[in-house]
Amino acid sequence: MKTLNNLQQLRDTIAEARQAGQSIALVPTMGNLHAGHIALIKQAVERADCVVASIFVNPLQFGANEDLDSYPRTLEADQSKLQEAGCNLLFIPDAQTIYPHGMEQHTLVSVPGVSTGLCGGSRPGHFDGVATVVCKLLNMVQPDIALFGEKDFQQLAVIRKMVADLNIPVQVFGVPIVRDHDGLALSSRNGYLSAPQRANAPALHQCMQTLKAKIITGDRDYPALFAQFNSELNAAGFRLDYIELRDALTLEKADLASTQLILLAAAYLGSTRLIDNLIIDL
Ligand code: PAF
Repeated sequence: MKTLNNLQQLRDTIAEARQAGQSIALVPTMGNLHAGHIALIKQAVERADCVVASIFVNPLQFGANEDLDSYPRTLEADQSKLQEAGCNLLFIPDAQTIYPHGMEQHTLVSVPGVSTGLCGGSRPGHFDGVATVVCKLLNMVQPDIALFGEKDFQQLAVIRKMVADLNIPVQVFGVPIVRDHDGLALSSRNGYLSAPQRANAPALHQCMQTLKAKIITGDRDYPALFAQFNSELNAAGFRLDYIELRDALTLEKADLASTQLILLAAAYLGSTRLIDNLIIDL
């Protein structure tokens, strides 16, 4: 696997692959790779000849009081994992390459509708930062396909809408959540948890499953269901950010016509914010 930080070298290497008739996949990441990211690379290897991963901790998608500075940077370990998973090319641009004139002067990509509420409500500007950097990475690599994890379900919806609205010639694939043995969705932020917090963390998924089971059996008293969910999570040491039921296809508020629903939640354990989601097929 080749690692490049220079945009021209990236473009030249990709042009060579194209000339050799290869199809290109892109897996954008912020590094600190876990089995969820590796599942994306493995899917990419199945679907394309040349797999490009990027690692860039994108300052534009972090709020002022968020974890940009403490976000784990583990390049060497990431390189070995990518190499082993069959990645062909790793792009590690610096902030100067991505935002040569600074972030304030940069054109923003803003995706209306799907970016509002949920994580977009709690993290103002976050999805503008995500859409902008993903749009740039897609333009830099010009892949045939790009793969993203379904744990960040709203992010995936934002990227799909951006790609459709801006006619970006790429096919976007969502890859299912990878969970730890106890159900906790894998996330780079799990590394912030203390041992006791880590022991409590699967409660988020468990409480969501309990809620899902009640909905499937026909309980539709959502205010009561969500209040119960909140008190169960509090008992496990969490502070709820949001719990919502949406239409899984449109991400709009679920209505009676919705047959595929999605439960989306975000909650804090100490200062660590975890998110998770569960599909509900009615
Ligand atoms: O999901 C992530 O790791 C990031 O939001 C992404 C898509 C790489 C953009 O910075």
